[in-house]
Amino acid sequence: MTRFTHLVCSVCDRIFPKDQPQTFCPSCKRPLLAVYDLTPLDKNVLVGRNSDMWRYRELLPIENERFIVTLGEGFTPLLPLKRIGRKLGLSDVWFKDESANPTGSFKARGLAMAVSKAHEYGIREMAIPTAGNAGSALAAYGARAGIKTHVFMPEATPKVFQTDCTWFGARVTTVQGSIRDAGQAMGRANLGHWFDVSTLKEPYRIEGKKTMGYELAEQLHWQTPDVILYPTGGGTGLIGIWKAFKEMLALGWISEITTRMVAVQATGCDPIVSAFEAHEADGRPIENPPETIANGLRVPAPFGDRLILEALYESRGTAITISDEEMESGIRELAVGEGFFVAPEGAAVWMALKKLRESGWVKPTDKVVLLNTGSAYKYIENLWK
Ligand SMILES: Cc1ncc(COP(=O)(O)O)c(C=O)c1O
Repeated sequence: MTRFTHLVCSVCDRIFPKDQPQTFCPSCKRPLLAVYDLTPLDKNVLVGRNSDMWRYRELLPIENERFIVTLGEGFTPLLPLKRIGRKLGLSDVWFKDESANPTGSFKARGLAMAVSKAHEYGIREMAIPTAGNAGSALAAYGARAGIKTHVFMPEATPKVFQTDCTWFGARVTTVQGSIRDAGQAMGRANLGHWFDVSTLKEPYRIEGKKTMGYELAEQLHWQTPDVILYPTGGGTGLIGIWKAFKEMLALGWISEITTRMVAVQATGCDPIVSAFEAHEADGRPIENPPETIANGLRVPAPFGDRLILEALYESRGTAITISDEEMESGIRELAVGEGFFVAPEGAAVWMALKKLRESGWVKPTDKVVLLNTGSAYKYIENLWK
């Protein structure tokens, strides 16, 4: 059923077979991407399928459906932001609410895919460094599959993430510093039998995240929006959505890609924004990233930096930073104005839209999609601070 053929290095084009677990390119130290047979496919194959992310199964890497590990992820609501959108002079603003996923964030998509693929390969133990949400998702899907999980997170991560990971049966370790330090601690602790599913060091989380792109096009009647704003830490979702659009163009599911992609980062931890502003190909690592209420944006050196920047340049997009104070205002505005209680990362994209509208970069006629990647309920501790 799947059209998955092989993996390819995103830099040197070296090919890797799909019949064994893969990580990243050993020579370039860059992410591998899944390649599919993209000869045209009638999109009516989707008719009658379940409303979840597995409906795009031809373009997903699972060989045998019995290995799919699901908690009902995907097909999240796409809702108009009528009241507060109008205040910005915009009549076509949409809010993709990823907090409706299992464990409360978009990380469910990526980890459902990574765990399913690991299950298919017969992997028994998995490990992840996380800013919070990815750890919860790995722990939950691991429990569902009967796979042992290890989660490493910065000490500053809200306690709720430690709590739910522990309840799902994961072994949790907290580490001083950022997600980069958590990743290094995990590397030291791993005696070789844990499969490392760090962002983009494993090629299948992105295949789950790309389903946001397929869904958006389907929900918008097979069109792409003019602008997508995405809160960018490791960047898997942004890269995945862009990959999905290109795949759909080749398949004949959409006739053009009209989207400008926007990466939104936290003030002080902006490796992509600073590189974008300098027109560079690689991210600019941040030495000591300050704490932020948006834990998911505290990623000082994203492994997929080059792919994120490529998507921004190719789409004629942009990159912008938002401060913690602005995120707090954004949470309030979306709560009071529309009834959405969003994660700080989701509030950041709303505030970025306001800035881009003020500067004229977003035009009144643009169809805009904001990605709310998570729920404020998991960040209550940060909001109390
Ligand atoms: C709620 C939330 N939004 C955004 C991000 C950043 O996601 P990505 O790493 O795909 O850029 C994270 C990552 O932890 C997150 O938890």
